[in-house]
Amino acid sequence: MLTLGIETSCDETAAAVLQDDRVLSSIVSSQIEIHKKYGGVVPELASREHLKNLMPIIRASLASAAVPLSSVGLIAVTYAPGLIGALLVGVSAAKAIAYAQGIPFIGVHHGEGHILAAHIAYPGIGYPYIALLVSGGHTALYHVKGLGNYRLLGQTKDDAAGEAYDKVAKLLGLEYPGGPAIDRFAQQGNPEAIKFPRANQAGYDFSFSGLKTAVRTHVALFTSKDKGLDPALNIRDVAACFQRAVVDILTQKTIQAARETGVAKIVVAGGVAANSSLRNRMKEQADKYDMALYLPGMGLCLDNAAMIALAGYLRFRRGETSNLNLNPRASMPL
Ligand code: KG4
Ligand code: ZN
Repeated sequence: MLTLGIETSCDETAAAVLQDDRVLSSIVSSQIEIHKKYGGVVPELASREHLKNLMPIIRASLASAAVPLSSVGLIAVTYAPGLIGALLVGVSAAKAIAYAQGIPFIGVHHGEGHILAAHIAYPGIGYPYIALLVSGGHTALYHVKGLGNYRLLGQTKDDAAGEAYDKVAKLLGLEYPGGPAIDRFAQQGNPEAIKFPRANQAGYDFSFSGLKTAVRTHVALFTSKDKGLDPALNIRDVAACFQRAVVDILTQKTIQAARETGVAKIVVAGGVAANSSLRNRMKEQADKYDMALYLPGMGLCLDNAAMIALAGYLRFRRGETSNLNLNPRASMPL
């Protein structure tokens, strides 16, 4: 069974081909260069870029898998959450191809795709596990008991972790997207230099807006109206201290969730799971508490269509499909 996966929820146009649960090809075309000069994703530009790039990317993924479109048996597409215009491009294309080819299609929740990416990297992973989903739009902890059975343990009360990275990077004058930039700068900074707060939310909930405000207040001390950022501001130290606080919070809550639920298996998913410090600390803590840690490679953590194809394939296998009247949704809980 061949599945064609399509992902256009934000600023990556992606397509992938899976044979059952095995990835034959996965192609991601990033729009970062286009959005960079605006300091963030411009929704209308994103839609237009998807429109321009999606069909060539789909063709490239079929060519790279060396299969004709006529042999594809299922189309899986991200339909929520994300930028509505961007989602519309992918969903419309998926419907049109499915209709023209006379094959089923299935809408996939982007967050479910991120979590299930771990099943591509580790086919024998099984259930249950604790999943920390950390991306530009999500920061949540789930007790994953099976396919489609995701018990929300806690989530952010304000910004998502990736969003906090992107906003803090902007404050520091770093380029978009902020996550990779802060990750790089932090490696050369002193994570003890400045004391930033760790918001202690109840249970497994998170909060990053206080931390972001603390960074803004610190940066303001080094900013003047006429001269802008004072070079005396040590951006590397700020990045390192901000990152230390984020990683502290994410790791501590995840380990706590695994210990309290008695599920000694952890998956870290989403774009922020590409963060070097988070990856190292999670490994260290999982070892300390004798827990199994599943960290997909960078390419599977960042937005891609292989994870969408897999989620669609797994749901299709148990009898699910979507109707052609399925509409994309900008926001939707998992
Ligand atoms: O999953 P993703 O590609 O898209 C969404 O679903 O949001 O995640 C993108 C987010 C961005 O906020 C980006 O800054 C962050 O992931 N990110 C990182 C790193 N690489 C990407 N954050 C921290 N460290 C990184 N190395
Ligand atoms: Zn994502």
